[in-house]
Amino acid sequence: MPRFIALIPAAGTGSRMNNELPKQYLSLAGKPMIYHALHTLCLSSHIFRVFVVLAPDDHEWSRYDWSSFADKLTVKYCGGATRADSVLNGLKAMQTDGSIGKDDWILVHDAARPCLTIFQLDQLIDALALDEIGGLLAIPVADTLKRADSNQCVMGTESRNSLWQAQTPQMFRLGLLMDALSKVDSAAITDDASAIEASGLRPRLVQSDAYNFKVTYPQDLALAELVLQKRETK
Ligand code: C5P
Repeated sequence: MPRFIALIPAAGTGSRMNNELPKQYLSLAGKPMIYHALHTLCLSSHIFRVFVVLAPDDHEWSRYDWSSFADKLTVKYCGGATRADSVLNGLKAMQTDGSIGKDDWILVHDAARPCLTIFQLDQLIDALALDEIGGLLAIPVADTLKRADSNQCVMGTESRNSLWQAQTPQMFRLGLLMDALSKVDSAAITDDASAIEASGLRPRLVQSDAYNFKVTYPQDLALAELVLQKRETK
């Protein structure tokens, strides 16, 4: 039976957060941000192992105590110049680790989506475990979409019909994902599904919700804090 392995690329600098500290380490509800996604992934009974990919010169990780995740967690200092490079390097490291096979499912999840829930994770796994290709959590676009010119004036309104916002985890088999990522221009893609699409395949969209948003700008951090606090008090 194929197993489910999580991979968290966490080798980015988070330049849009205007903070010296890479965003995966920004304090969120009393913990470094990456702790929250790790907690959910390690808690899931479906997930066999969790790999975290850090920048080769990361000095932050070792400042914290990760021992509560020790039974599932493996850390690799093999991040690359782009997210796709970090994911591909992580997949290669997993394979040389020996115990992960090319038919095992890999769930790639951004460290910057701290509000992922076990429910969303289960929805993804249940929807895709028997799928030929795999897919991703996503939500239908709700806002009206404007295309801007270089002066930030509206050139036109785009139809939002059939448009979805991609989230993570994105779930594909190790062999397929490695093959797809090694063939694309890693600087031109911002998620894993794009690499699969470039191979001519159609990943499935599994409906998620807005709580699984990505922390990108400073105000997102305050929002994530509120979501996590509300869950704690329930
Ligand atoms: O910058 P962005 O929010 O798109 O990053 C998404 C995820 O990819 C983050 O978890 C970030 O740490 C990771 N990343 C990476 N290696 C890079 C760039 C981003 O692991 N070179």
